[in-house]
Amino acid sequence: MKFKSQTEPSEFIDALLDQLSWMYAVALPTHVVAAFHPFRSWYVWRNNQKMEKLLRPKIQERFAMKNLSSAKTVLEHIEPDSSNPKQLEAVSGHLKTMMAIGYDTTSSTMTYIFYCLSKNPTALRKVRLELDEVLGTDLTKAANTIRESPKVLNEMPWVSAIIKETLRLYTPGGTVRQGISGFDLVDAAGRLFPTEGCYVSDNPGVYHRDPQLWPRANEFLPERWLVAPGDELFPPAGAFRPFVAGPRNCIGQEFVQEELKIFLALTAREFDVKACYDEWDQMHGISPDKFTDFMGDRGYQILGSCHLDSPRERLPCRITVR
Ligand code: HEM
Repeated sequence: MKFKSQTEPSEFIDALLDQLSWMYAVALPTHVVAAFHPFRSWYVWRNNQKMEKLLRPKIQERFAMKNLSSAKTVLEHIEPDSSNPKQLEAVSGHLKTMMAIGYDTTSSTMTYIFYCLSKNPTALRKVRLELDEVLGTDLTKAANTIRESPKVLNEMPWVSAIIKETLRLYTPGGTVRQGISGFDLVDAAGRLFPTEGCYVSDNPGVYHRDPQLWPRANEFLPERWLVAPGDELFPPAGAFRPFVAGPRNCIGQEFVQEELKIFLALTAREFDVKACYDEWDQMHGISPDKFTDFMGDRGYQILGSCHLDSPRERLPCRITVR
């Protein structure tokens, strides 16, 4: 399904984005307004109708396909079940979940990849060298090379390391579990914390910057993903969890890592991106004594649609074609 929303108006994407703006997660003024807005249910219902109007015929089109041998997507493999009137609703519900959940997480990671690379010219130079080696220096052929031989995406260790290091420093999400009787947390001193009646929040963004787990924790060091076991930078087992872990972990994680590699492969050699927070602050009269950085970081994470994931001001930057 192609929405072409970057070049054409898209009713579906407009409805999806508006739907996200009605979500609320924390007690921020915008979320409180969303939660108590008298017409919230109506807006949510209307956005849903718009998305369903587009999705359902597409799903039915897929169901009508006879030749499944050429099927390329999970959706195409679903057998229509006429005895189950809820099947269409269930499939479209899953599709909407995928799109909603994969939107902010992916776009903020893309933004932060460029932010990190703009601050680390050596890392960027290495990305470009690796892409030249794997895909050749003719940029116009890169997309075709990937299409014809997707396994080239497995030959980009430095690009993968950039993605992981960005996800470590700027983790877009986390999760919450409902505490239950018999499931207790234990702190370093051995004290027990029963979880029954509580929500337990697993926020990887916090322990991804814990210096006890990560030497030089606040530095962007993609090489930590390439060193051998035994090296002090070698990531400790289980400490990197941007997709969390366990049976309900992110089902889009393999997909998104491939997507991010393709994104870098097709853009990193064509554009230079330069963060320009100074210029932005000047334009908007933000004086330097105001809170403009967090531990020296101008692009610290702020609330996106419902996670703490977007760079401040959505990363003001100048993009030039090389
Ligand atoms: C950088 C991008 C992404 C990050 C960091 C991320 C992270 C996460 C996290 C932390 C969870 C919660 C897991 C848990 O509760 O244990 C999650 C769940 C989920 N993610 Fe992602 N995600 C990303 C992209 C995507 C994409 C692109 C898709 C879909 C195409 C997707 C689909 C899902 C779904 C369906 C769930 C719910 C799984 C369940 O409840 O069983 N994610 N993701």
